[in-house]
Amino acid sequence: MAKRMGGPGTWLYPLPPVLVSCAHGDRTNIITLAWAGVACSEPPIISLGIRPERYSYDIIKQSGEFVVNIPRASQVELVDFCGNVSGREVDKFARCGFTALPGSSVAAPLLAECPVNLECRVVQVLPLGSHDLFLGEVVSVHYAEQYVADQRFDPYAADALVYGFGRYYRLGEVLGRHGEWMKRER
Ligand SMILES: Cc1cc2nc3c(=O)[nH]c(=O)nc-3n(C[C@H](O)[C@H](O)[C@H](O)COP(=O)(O)O)c2cc1C
Repeated sequence: MAKRMGGPGTWLYPLPPVLVSCAHGDRTNIITLAWAGVACSEPPIISLGIRPERYSYDIIKQSGEFVVNIPRASQVELVDFCGNVSGREVDKFARCGFTALPGSSVAAPLLAECPVNLECRVVQVLPLGSHDLFLGEVVSVHYAEQYVADQRFDPYAADALVYGFGRYYRLGEVLGRHGEWMKRER
């Protein structure tokens, strides 16, 4: 495999693009974020990289809350829309037709049409440069029961959306289960 050397960059792929909903006072908004990840299991903490110039930035910082909504690949047009227009100019709930459901632990609304909604409370904000890292503890989880098989949530059935290098993809084939290859003699 011949390699080229590039300058420093994040390069990590694939990424899960998420729709983050937020609310503070009379401001409610949705922002698409691909700089999203798992930071800790116990307590469950999710990380989001958000540029301070985003309309959502102040809403999340001031409210100390957000909801991570995991979209379906079939919702890619809405994901792209929420990542290309600002809530300063557009009511993204009205334009996208999302149904806002009340959360059980936070004031930010859940997007009913997304298969998974994670209610989060901000526990730390770390200024890093272009983006601030928001660490949010997951305080409530909502998931569509229709995508549960063998007591596990199935991201393949939930039509997971994938992102990398400026392009969107649909989750590919299932290769196996965690630990499946460990059963074989080596
Ligand atoms: C696929 C995709 C991923 C994005 N990821 C991020 C991200 O991780 N962090 C960020 O600050 N902006 C990200 N953006 C850009 C914001 O979503 C975009 O600037 C949005 O219009 C900001 O909305 P707001 O001003 O209503 O908060 C992304 C956009 C797209 C389309």
